[in-house]
Amino acid sequence: MEISTIAVIMAMAEEAEPFIREMGLEPVEPVFDSRLPMEVFEGKAGTADLVLIVGGKDPRHGVDSVATQPATLAAYLAIERFNPDLLINAGTAGGFRARGAEIGDVYMGADCIRFHDRRIPIPGMEAYGVGSYPVPEFRGLASALGLKRGIISTGNSLDMVPEDLERLTANGADVKEMEAAAIAWVADLYQVPLLALKSITDLVDTETPTQDEFLANLALASEALQEKLIAAIAYCAA
Ligand code: ADE
Repeated sequence: MEISTIAVIMAMAEEAEPFIREMGLEPVEPVFDSRLPMEVFEGKAGTADLVLIVGGKDPRHGVDSVATQPATLAAYLAIERFNPDLLINAGTAGGFRARGAEIGDVYMGADCIRFHDRRIPIPGMEAYGVGSYPVPEFRGLASALGLKRGIISTGNSLDMVPEDLERLTANGADVKEMEAAAIAWVADLYQVPLLALKSITDLVDTETPTQDEFLANLALASEALQEKLIAAIAYCAA
């Protein structure tokens, strides 16, 4: 794949900070309509142009614009404005101890990306709700970088109700997070290859409250993410 532009989408400022620092990315403004919260940073990866879109602060609530609506919008803006050859969604996620996950592991999304909280029990709509957007294989990438490969499942909640767990299990999920399927939907519409990298902050099948484990491990997981993200960009742009 000939790559001249890579666009990376990240939801939270704290997730993105180590990546911005290590790559020496510079903020650019204004890129999008000034009423939108998304922030844009630019740099180079070898000869390729590298652009990072971060969700930014929600203007009404003053917190990072996480979850699927901002992710959909960021993906649309990234593709329309920068026409990337490769889209990368990097972020943090919950993992499953029973499926071998450990805090700080970085997963590469494999096979397809699904939703676990769009339950539409109407014939034909069920599969639409789950999504199952295919992602490229990126042959050799996971083993070269020491990434785990797994199915990513997306929902709009950090915590989990019993129906979510049922759907995560049905989805074959290794990774539970809040943006990838929304971005995968846009990438699929535009036929832009999507690489999803997710660093584990919490184990959802343990007794520890997710939010406590998430906050305790956010910095550590964001550092692990930055390392693998930079290596993946170098691998893809080479
Ligand atoms: N991001 C980090 N941990 C998560 C979890 N357990 N669920 C959804 N998104 C997450």
